[in-house]
Amino acid sequence: MSRQTGYIQDVPYPHHYQRESTPLWLSFITAALGIQGPDITRPYSWCELGCGQGFGAVINAATNPLGQFTAIDFNPQHIAHGRDLAQAAGLDNLAFIEADFSSLIQIAREQGPQHDFIVLNGVYSWISASDRQALHQCIEHWLKPGGILFLGYMCQPGMAFLAGAQRFLRCHAEHAAGDAVQQLLAGMAMLERMEQGGAGFFQHYPLAGQYLRLGKTQDPRYLVHELLNEHWESLHVADVMANMAACGCDYIGTATPLENIDALSLPGNLLPILDALHTPAERETFKDLARNQSERRDLYQKGIRRLDNEAHRQVLLDQVVSVLPGAPSNGGLTFDTRIGPVQGDASLFGPLLESLATGPCAFAELLRLPALQAQASLINPALQMLAWAGYLHPLLPGEVALERCRVLNRVIAGRAMRGESYAHLAAPTLGSALGAEPLHMVAMRVVLEYPEIGGRLLRETILAVLRDNGIAAGDDLQARLDAFVRITLPAWQQMGIVEIQRCE
Ligand SMILES: C[S@@+](CC[C@H](N)C(=O)[O-])C[C@H]1O[C@@H](n2cnc3c(N)ncnc32)[C@H](O)[C@@H]1O
Repeated sequence: MSRQTGYIQDVPYPHHYQRESTPLWLSFITAALGIQGPDITRPYSWCELGCGQGFGAVINAATNPLGQFTAIDFNPQHIAHGRDLAQAAGLDNLAFIEADFSSLIQIAREQGPQHDFIVLNGVYSWISASDRQALHQCIEHWLKPGGILFLGYMCQPGMAFLAGAQRFLRCHAEHAAGDAVQQLLAGMAMLERMEQGGAGFFQHYPLAGQYLRLGKTQDPRYLVHELLNEHWESLHVADVMANMAACGCDYIGTATPLENIDALSLPGNLLPILDALHTPAERETFKDLARNQSERRDLYQKGIRRLDNEAHRQVLLDQVVSVLPGAPSNGGLTFDTRIGPVQGDASLFGPLLESLATGPCAFAELLRLPALQAQASLINPALQMLAWAGYLHPLLPGEVALERCRVLNRVIAGRAMRGESYAHLAAPTLGSALGAEPLHMVAMRVVLEYPEIGGRLLRETILAVLRDNGIAAGDDLQARLDAFVRITLPAWQQMGIVEIQRCE
């Protein structure tokens, strides 16, 4: 724990990747919302405040050659890890800075507007009020006019239930033996005993019991940061909006596409109530109550730049999208949302998915599909829904960094095979990352090392490398290997993650 800030420093945070933090994802959402975001077809600047281990910044820098990336954190272990990974991958467009937020105020004031994107994920609701003030100053001075702020935080009312249990865990940790992970696990075991003993808290807040059980399946290093920080607090969106307005930033929507579509993310009988509400703060607070929202991924712009209808149509027409591995190839989908299952209309999603199954498509091509002529205005929200569900992703316009992503993926896969807990690989055409299990890490090393092999030989080589390195790849290995060869590898080839030519 850092004495000055009350934030955990002795346990490093896991190597998380946040798909919503990439320049392309943020542009895809601002385009859908009819907002003119920064132009990512020209050089731009992106900064993450509280970058953790810097894994996301490294992936983003490798996959987005037009961006200049800056990643800041006060934990020396985090910054050392990020620098080392960036250096091993030979990245020249990423700078890591080891600094406390409070020390950045003066620098931000002197430098003035620097960044087109500022990303602040998993930080704002875990730090002290004075550190939040420091961040406000950084945002106010560093974000360029028209720039986009991504702000991910724990919110009311869905996280309110955790406050009592979190406070107990902190009290318990003060006197428990061991490091922060051991202290946390001891506290969670005590809470479990309270639940089993019939403590009223767990009867009134059944979500707290569910949270404890989920916690047992999660990386304890993540939970330490989530639960043992002195200033953890779930925030009200109205307060956050007021803080951002004071920095010159206006709320434009969320980076979680589903939540920008009221008709699909709110119970239908609540929509007339929403219609009667007028200010953004009351509307967003109402939505948080309607969804019992626990986490927000807000987007703010330094001075809103709304596109007129023609310009909005043009930015949509310029988009090119691709399906991701595992996407369904025809319609009739069910989306599993916070308000329950939402049925996708087969007459809309069917033609879209059938067309995308043949390869990436420009929005303009989708618009020309005869089956969609009568519902052209639904294509934009449908693509947003598919992206939200993890079935689709926009493609990067302009230069794609195939070779440097291969260098980075070789490093990531090699380190993962030696026990580093990486769970993503760089995807150059997506300007982002794809999830990767241990089997995929080994497969990545094999396909990069032996680009000429495929079919049975590829499977046997992957199995041999798994065996030789003593890597436990989980149950159903043959079935997952089949799925890798049938689904994941062709997708990697299509996305330029690995080369196309391979013999069977
Ligand atoms: C929960 S982690 C989130 C990391 C990353 N943004 C992510 O989403 O994976 C919060 C990070 O903020 C950093 N942090 C907390 N207080 C800070 C401060 N006062 N100055 C600089 N960094 C700080 C921590 O070291 C930690 O890496």
